[in-house]
Amino acid sequence: MGGFFWTNGLFFAYITIIMEAQEIRKRFLTYFKNHGHAIVPSSSLIPDDPSVLLTTAGMQQFKPYYLPAGRHGTGKADAMKDFGSLNTVSVQKSFRTSDIEEVGDERHLTFFEMLGNFSFGGYFKKEAITYAHEFLTKELGLEISYVTIFEGKESIGVPKDEESRSIWQSLGVADIREEGMGDVFWGPTGSGGPCGPTTEIYCKNGAGQDIEVWNIVFNEFLFPGSREELNSGSSGKQLEKLLTPGVDTGMGFERLTMVIQKTQTIFETDLFYSLLQLLPNNLDTIKRRVFADHARAITFLITDGVRPSNKEAGYILRRLMRRSMAYEKTDNLPEHILQTVVDEIICIYGDFYPELQVQATTIKDTVAGEREKFSKTLEHGIRETYKFSEINASTAFNLYQSFGISLDVIKDVAGEKAKNVTNEAFEAELKKHQEISRAGQTAKFGGHGLILDTGELKAGTKEEVKIVTRLHTATHLLQAALRKVLGTEVHQMGSDITPERTRFDFSFSRKVTPDELKQVEEIVNEAIQSDYVVEAKKMPYEEAIKTNALYFFKEKYPKEVNVYSVFDPNTHEVFSREFCGGPHVTHTGEIGVFKILKEESSSAGVRRIRAIVTL
Ligand code: ALA
Repeated sequence: MGGFFWTNGLFFAYITIIMEAQEIRKRFLTYFKNHGHAIVPSSSLIPDDPSVLLTTAGMQQFKPYYLPAGRHGTGKADAMKDFGSLNTVSVQKSFRTSDIEEVGDERHLTFFEMLGNFSFGGYFKKEAITYAHEFLTKELGLEISYVTIFEGKESIGVPKDEESRSIWQSLGVADIREEGMGDVFWGPTGSGGPCGPTTEIYCKNGAGQDIEVWNIVFNEFLFPGSREELNSGSSGKQLEKLLTPGVDTGMGFERLTMVIQKTQTIFETDLFYSLLQLLPNNLDTIKRRVFADHARAITFLITDGVRPSNKEAGYILRRLMRRSMAYEKTDNLPEHILQTVVDEIICIYGDFYPELQVQATTIKDTVAGEREKFSKTLEHGIRETYKFSEINASTAFNLYQSFGISLDVIKDVAGEKAKNVTNEAFEAELKKHQEISRAGQTAKFGGHGLILDTGELKAGTKEEVKIVTRLHTATHLLQAALRKVLGTEVHQMGSDITPERTRFDFSFSRKVTPDELKQVEEIVNEAIQSDYVVEAKKMPYEEAIKTNALYFFKEKYPKEVNVYSVFDPNTHEVFSREFCGGPHVTHTGEIGVFKILKEESSSAGVRRIRAIVTL
């Protein structure tokens, strides 16, 4: 094997035996397949779990397999049935927004691939550690510098992980370090889920630095709240022991490649060198890395359906695109360079991720479309940015509002003058602005006084209250019907009901076909014609969760909640059950005829339906 090696700004030809990145992926999957794991393809970067913006880890697609039945609306999924094995292995496309600002150093990325093996009751600590040890030291011939284990934390009732220590010792690993919650306790992700202590493995890169390559998580617990709630301990929520503990591991592919190829940074591995080669030599090192990182992220995000917008994942994509495009002006990069790098990415990743080839034209069009939008204001924005002698969060936000230049661009252009603006302060400005525009919408109604405003439902007169009440129950029927036709990927992402219409946002990864919409409409109308009973029951939150009622993850629910059920009074079969504050009709027959007017995209992975009811 031979090739080029990028170091200190020069290319050297080399003839040596070095394991290529492609080969590493293959070896990983094959090793675990030979040890009884089913190979599962990467899931999308847009996760099913709506409480997480983008997929950040390999375990995310497997979350339901760790959870006991009836919890978190998912229920215990059956790995045996779905994969033919209790153990799986994957190479997962992942994205960490938390690392955006670190990109440019030797090892941080936004988009990355994560190698992982998982077990849902098949094996636990001994096998997980033994597999990892054997794979690294025997299959890859690496030396382990040291490992870490959990030091224990009394306040959450988790003891020191002595079991992992003795397993490592039995394998001949001597340097075992104890660490705390910050480093070696994983999860829960999003609004709750599996979590537990981890053990990490460190190996040396080409610069002799110890790099964390593998994180092995022992999902022994379930926490019904966020990571912040677990850390603070003030929510009153408790860790529960999982009946069947599971294993979740994650190995950053680029970091592993750096360690195997003995390079000093991830950017010198064969995953990056052909990309960097396309950029002009005189471009600053940090900017080269940022550009290459962002180009990969842009390519993969668009492929999985994210589109540039001012919200959520779309906003992240826009940030990455605009920063790369700003270099065209600030550093005189040729306009076509982003597309050239994207083409190279499709070329080197297309074999393993064929979806990149399928989406090649869409990626090209999306990049061109965003450039067209941005180029009108970009130069002007850069000129304005130069004029300020100091930039704070509010100035930065105004520049973003007026010219569409993101904080990263402002920082790139203004340098020292913007050094005090943090991401958090900028996002606080963004949020403030969103709240002001929401308040503006309420004011529109306020002209003739609102007599009902639940946030979701708005009505100005008694007549209007009747209409929105019918639309509200219809919206519950709509969600149930969507789940029947499109599957349980559908979750409420938002709802807004005025006397004119209901507008319902839900998670779903593609356009709903006219045929499917027709089926949904028919199911709702059948439920109306059957004149089902609508009944509310007050119960403690914990008990309500167990009824499998649907709930809106963005909502904060009180200790005692109302669960609205729509059911057939003869058979008692439940058609729909949701956490809800009402108001609702008492019988579905009161709704009238339900009609879907429109289905469209709301944001990445979220669809929007507008519908009306008539008597
Ligand atoms: N889920 C664990 C991680 O991402 C393995 O580090």
